[in-house]
Amino acid sequence: MNVTLHGRTAHYRTVTFDSRRNALLLIDQRRLPHQFTIAAITDFRATADAIQQMVVRGAGAIGATAAYGLAQGARAFRGRDLEKFSRHVQTVFQTLQSARPTAVDPVNAMRAVCQAMRPGATVEEQQALALAAAEEFANNDVRHCQAIGRHGAKLIRRNSRVLTHCNAGWLAFVDVGSATAPLYAAQQAGRPFHVFCDETRPRCQGATLTAWELAQQNISHEIIADNAAGHLMQRGEIDLVIVGSDRALGRTGEVTNKIGTYTKAVLAARHGIPFYVALPFSTIDWTLRRGMDIPIEERSDGEVLGAWGVPGRLDGKPRRKTSESIYVRIANPTSPARNPGFDVTPPELITGIITPAGIVKPKDLWKERRRLGYGRGAETSGKNGTCTRANSG
Ligand code: MRU
Repeated sequence: MNVTLHGRTAHYRTVTFDSRRNALLLIDQRRLPHQFTIAAITDFRATADAIQQMVVRGAGAIGATAAYGLAQGARAFRGRDLEKFSRHVQTVFQTLQSARPTAVDPVNAMRAVCQAMRPGATVEEQQALALAAAEEFANNDVRHCQAIGRHGAKLIRRNSRVLTHCNAGWLAFVDVGSATAPLYAAQQAGRPFHVFCDETRPRCQGATLTAWELAQQNISHEIIADNAAGHLMQRGEIDLVIVGSDRALGRTGEVTNKIGTYTKAVLAARHGIPFYVALPFSTIDWTLRRGMDIPIEERSDGEVLGAWGVPGRLDGKPRRKTSESIYVRIANPTSPARNPGFDVTPPELITGIITPAGIVKPKDLWKERRRLGYGRGAETSGKNGTCTRANSG
C-alpha cells in the first residue's frame, strides 16, 4: 500500500526479498506507528528470530517471510551434495516453523516451496526453484487479498460502522490485508464508512498498526478500548464486524484469531450483528479435526504487565520530539500474568468467511474445499510440517 512520510508517497510491501544480498526486507512493525524503518535480515536464523520478536507479524506476512526464509536458508548452502542439502533445508524449515506456533500460513507457505523445489536435479536448481516459489507465494498472497476485497466490499454499505480486531491489514500480509481489503475496496468504490479499531491488548496491534494503516489511507476511524465494543453494540453503533484469522479449520469451520476475537463474536451474536472472518487460502488448515488441538501461543507475561509507547500527554500532543519507543511497567510489580495470544471462535458465531473464492459459511469450508485450495499441497500441513519427500503426503 502507499505510505506517506514527510510529504512523500511511495508504495511498500510488508515483506520483500533482496536476492543480491540474500536478505529479507521487513517493515519493522515493533516501531510503528512512531518510526517507519525497514530491517534487512541476511540469515535464516535471524529471520526466525524476527518472526518470534514480531518485527514481522500477521498470518500472511509471516507466511511470506517463512517462504523467503526457507529460500534464504537454502541459498546459503555451499556444496553439491543433495543429501546434505536436503538435511540443511529440513533444519531451516524447522527453525522457521518453530518461531511462532499458531498461524498455519508459514507451514503452508514452506510446504509450497518444498514442493516446488523437488524437480530440481542439482542444489543450484533447487535453490533457484525455492526463491521462485517464495516469490509466487508472496504474489499470490497479494492477489488473494485483492480478491477478498472484491468479494467483501459489498458488505460495506454507505455509512456502515465496522468493528475490527487486532491488525489483519496490509501489514499482516504482503500487501492489502484480509479484514481491511473490503474496506479499501469500498473506499475505492467511493462509499463513506467508519471503522472502530479495537486497541487489542496486550500488544495493541489495533491501536498502533490498524489505526496507522487507516490514517495513511484517509479512512475515518476511531480506536476503542477492547472493553468498549459491547457498549457500542448495545447502543446500535456497530453494524458489522470483520476480523482476520491465523488458522481456520477446513474440517470444522472453527477460526483462530487474536485473543479477544471470541469475545467479540459472542457479543455480535447477542446483538444480531453480522460477524465475518476474512482469510486467504493459506490460512486454512485442512488437517486438524478439533479447535482444541490448535496450538495456542503463550507469550511473555511482560506484554500483559506493561506497554510500549513514546512519551506523550493525555491530550495527545507530543511531549518532546522522540520516536524511540520505550516499555513501561503498568501492573503491580510483584504480580505475574497469563498471556494466551489467540482464541478459537466456533462456526455458529460466524456469519461468513470472506475468501478469495467468495463468501462461504464456515461449516461449508469442507464441502467447498476444491474451490478453496485443498488438493494443492497445503492439506497435509497439520501440526508438524516437513520438507522431506517421505512425509510429503
Ligand atoms: O500476534 P500477531 O499480531 O501476529 O497476530 C496475528 C494477528 O494480527 C491477528 O490475529 C490477525 O487478526 C490475523 S493475522 C491476518
